[in-house]
Amino acid sequence: MKFFVDTADIKEIESLLDTGMVDGVTTNPSLIAQTGRDFIQTIKEITKIVTEGPVSAEVTALDFDNMKRQGEILAGIADNIAIKVPLTVDGLRACKYFADQGTMVNVTLCFSAAQALLAAKAGAAFISPFVGRLDDIGQDGLGLIEEICLIYAQYDFPTEVLVASVRSPLHITEAAKLGADVATLPPKVIRQLYNHPLTDKGLDAFMADWAKTGQSF
Ligand code: G3P
Repeated sequence: MKFFVDTADIKEIESLLDTGMVDGVTTNPSLIAQTGRDFIQTIKEITKIVTEGPVSAEVTALDFDNMKRQGEILAGIADNIAIKVPLTVDGLRACKYFADQGTMVNVTLCFSAAQALLAAKAGAAFISPFVGRLDDIGQDGLGLIEEICLIYAQYDFPTEVLVASVRSPLHITEAAKLGADVATLPPKVIRQLYNHPLTDKGLDAFMADWAKTGQSF
């Protein structure tokens, strides 16, 4: 399973890149707004530090013609840009337009298997089902992941299932059991993945016992 970090905060991206756990970045207009910084400049800076994995940058237009115009600007920033488009009819049209040119597209704001099927047919590189927002309204976010993985497997679609709107490590492990290809995690959740109180307690005990030996190497 690949891990992308779901943030536009440069310092967070830099610190998590150093851990070796991050394979890419996803942003969205809300995450950009939280930085208080210029969108294009921020994406340029992210692609300077994340040179290998996909960096998702979302169009803010709602119509095909302006999605096409904005997508071309974003794709021109770096080769590892994945243009993010919403799961609307114009977004799907833009997805097909860019996918036909060989540009990575991440189709976002997916909340149903039917939507995910359309995104795969449009040639999306990634589909982003928002599990947390479905859970937030009492629906089964992971159930959607299961449905999408099942459908995609029937047709051998190359579109990667990118689990988004992640709220906890449980979303990650359960989605991994279902075979999801990627998860995009808020920095906080990435840190929750490796932190465990029993690990800390055990390490403290090891260090205390080691100190008693008076040895070092
Ligand atoms: O960035 C896409 C998605 O992960 C955002 O989800 O629910 O945390 O705003 P959310």
